[in-house]
Amino acid sequence: MAEITVHQGDLTRQRVDAVVNAANSSLLGGGGVDGAIHRAGGPAILAACRRIRSTDWPEGLPTGRAVATTAGDLPARWVIHTVGPVYDHHDDPAPLLRSCHVESLRVAVEVGARTVAFPAISCGVYGYPVDEAAPVAVAAVADALAELAGRLDEVRFVLFDDASHRAWRAALDRR
Ligand code: APR
Repeated sequence: MAEITVHQGDLTRQRVDAVVNAANSSLLGGGGVDGAIHRAGGPAILAACRRIRSTDWPEGLPTGRAVATTAGDLPARWVIHTVGPVYDHHDDPAPLLRSCHVESLRVAVEVGARTVAFPAISCGVYGYPVDEAAPVAVAAVADALAELAGRLDEVRFVLFDDASHRAWRAALDRR
């Protein structure tokens, strides 16, 4: 079974096959980790996102779905863009947050990635409390790995701040 690991650090510096971006439905960049990925990865990522918008997703990427692009100048080979739920827009945002993780791993396997790094999706601008998000994210990844047996080697959560790092560490230790 693939390993789930928790780290504190910068997602853009991870030496993995694919990093997951906490994007918005426009796929045209933003702040937070989305901004960091585009800044560090360079214009090739935005160009690939624009192509996706003009072909597969002309109305934008729906919440809970995921698409892959080149990672440009990042150490990773792919960026998997997913759109997390805005916490206050849903009575129960957990299934959508779960979908972000399951769909991102499905896309990772599709492109042939063996190692994947996630940020704390929806836990910044989108307002998802880390203590609620962490167990949902860890359970979603653990369940997806059981389905995708043997197709992935490592799924890494890379948390930027202490609070989310502690929340993910606690969620993983509780499993
Ligand atoms: N590496 C790892 N994690 C990071 C980094 C980084 N370089 N930069 C920010 N983060 C963390 C934030 O601290 C937060 O815990 O990523 C988590 C997700 O926060 P956001 O990036 O704000 O993402 P989200 O809450 O999903 O909101 C998405 O924000 O940036 C815009 O375009 C994006 O509109 C979209 C919205």
